[in-house]
Amino acid sequence: LEGHFQPKPLKGCKVLVTAGPTFERIDAVRGITNQSSGKMGFAVARAAQEAGAEVILVAGLVSQPTPYGVKRIDVESAQQMQQAVNAHISVQDLFIAVAAVADYHPLQQHEQKLKKDAQIMQIELAPTVDILASVASLPRPPFCVGFAAESQNLLDYAEQKRKRKRLPLLAANLVQNAFNSDDNELVLLDDHGRTPLPRTDKLDQARQLIAHAARLYHAGGSP
Ligand code: CTP
Ligand code: CA
Repeated sequence: LEGHFQPKPLKGCKVLVTAGPTFERIDAVRGITNQSSGKMGFAVARAAQEAGAEVILVAGLVSQPTPYGVKRIDVESAQQMQQAVNAHISVQDLFIAVAAVADYHPLQQHEQKLKKDAQIMQIELAPTVDILASVASLPRPPFCVGFAAESQNLLDYAEQKRKRKRLPLLAANLVQNAFNSDDNELVLLDDHGRTPLPRTDKLDQARQLIAHAARLYHAGGSP
């Protein structure tokens, strides 16, 4: 019932959210991944849906329930995540990249399980595509929101990331504040400056982020 009376600043908008880790296969049973529960991204998808948006959630391997009213597409690798994003991006109004995408994938993917021996083993890694940067550099990009999870120099690294990827809005958080936690404390960075959000649960953080993004989006806030 409560939802009925919430403001709907994204009514009529299409929003695509990425969430969770990607998993890059080494062989039939092994892979490289990032530490991510998917909680923050799923909360963002839920908050966007509550705000009236039509939401697609492209999710890596996570064990989170699909938010009410959200269309979910499950993927494994960064490449699959990029394909799912590309298939839908042209009609989106906002793109919010919360996923912890692997920056490298094994050059070779072995179909069979590798057998161990006593030698040192080397795995060659190639860089993955930066999904967010590629969407943000489209000729007519949707309003792009990035995340930055840093372990140090939070504001410097985050602002560099926002500039490098040309994002109107970026949510920065320290991994120490977010991992294995139901709470978070985001700092929102945009062309007007910084907005630190006091520590609350991830759904509350997500709702504040969506409200902020909606204001900038309607103000035409591209960099
Ligand atoms: N991202 C993405 N595709 C990638 C890597 C990152 O879409 N291949 C997105 C993330 O979802 C996040 C933002 O880019 O919204 C920043 O990710 P992050 O890992 O913090 O930054 P990187 O640019 O990968 O730089 P680094 O890992 O070196 O800090
Ligand atoms: Ca990265």
